[in-house]
Amino acid sequence: MRVIVTGAASGIGRAVAEMLGTGAHRLMLTDRDADGLRAVADAIGSAAGTCVTDLGDPECGDVLVAAALAHMGGIDAVVSNAGIIAGAPLVDQTIEQFDRIYAINTRATWLIAKAAHPHLVASRGALVATASLSATQPTPGLGFYSSSKAALIMLIRQLSLEWGRDGIRCSTVSPGPTYTPMTQAGYDDTERRAQREAMIPLGKLGMAQDVANAIVFLIGPQASHITGIDILVDGGMSNNLMPATGSGTGQRASS
Ligand SMILES: NC(=O)c1ccc[n+]([C@@H]2O[C@H](COP(=O)([O-])OP(=O)(O)OC[C@H]3O[C@@H](n4cnc5c(N)ncnc54)[C@H](O)[C@@H]3O)[C@@H](O)[C@H]2O)c1
Repeated sequence: MRVIVTGAASGIGRAVAEMLGTGAHRLMLTDRDADGLRAVADAIGSAAGTCVTDLGDPECGDVLVAAALAHMGGIDAVVSNAGIIAGAPLVDQTIEQFDRIYAINTRATWLIAKAAHPHLVASRGALVATASLSATQPTPGLGFYSSSKAALIMLIRQLSLEWGRDGIRCSTVSPGPTYTPMTQAGYDDTERRAQREAMIPLGKLGMAQDVANAIVFLIGPQASHITGIDILVDGGMSNNLMPATGSGTGQRASS
C-alpha cells in the first residue's frame, strides 16, 4: 500500500509508520516536528518519504498530497492521525484557541481528504482518522478537544456516505487513555496512572501499538467491507460508567 500518515513523528502515528515500515509498503510521513520525523523515516529506510507541514495551514492538504504523489506515484490510504490537546474551561478560551484546535483536529482531515480524493478514487482506497473517546464522553477541561473530535467522527461518517460509491472506505479509531508523548507526563505520575487504570476493565493504559493495530486493520484488505464506523480502543473504559458510580451494588431486588 501507498500510505500517508500524519503526526508520524511521535506516539500513535509513529507506531503506524513503524508497523507499515516493516512491510512492502511505501509511506509519506508528515509532521511539524522535522527532527522527530527524520528519525522515524531514517529508521524505516527508503520506503519512507517525509513532508514537514503544519496542519493548521490551509494549504496543508495540497502540499502533502503533492509530496505523496512525487514519492509514491499514487495513494491507497490516508491515516489522518495528528491532533493537539488543549485544556481549560470553555469560558476562559479564546477565538484563536478555538480556531487553532479545530483547524488541526478537524479541518486538516477534510483538507487532506479533499486533495487526496481523486487518487483514492483511482485506488479505491481508504481514509482513517484518529478521533478520541472524548468525542463521545464530555471530558472536564477539554471542551474544544472533545467537540473537535466529535466533529471529526461525523465528518468521516459523512465522507463514508459521499465516497461509498467510489469504493473509498472511511472510518475513525477512538483511543481511550493511551501512553504516548502527548500523555506521558500525566501518566508518569503513578497515583494518577493507577487511578486511571482502575477505571479500565482490561486494567492498563493503552499503548500506541494497540491503536496502530486498529488503524492498520481499517486501512487494509481485511476491512474491505467496513466503512463509516468508529472503533474504540479503550480497554473497555467506555463500558465502565455505571460500575464506577457503584450502581447495582447494595440495592434491594424488587419484584
Ligand atoms: N494519547 C492518548 O491518550 C490519546 C487519546 C485519544 C486520542 N488521541 C489522539 O491520537 C492522535 C495521536 O496522538 P498521540 O497520543 O500519538 O500524540 P503525540 O503528541 O505523541 O503525537 C502527535 C503528533 O502530531 C504532531 N502534530 C501536532 N500538531 C501538528 C500540526 N499542527 N501539524 C503537524 N503535525 C502536528 C505532533 O508533532 C506529534 O508528532 C491525536 O489525534 C490525539 O488527539 C490520543
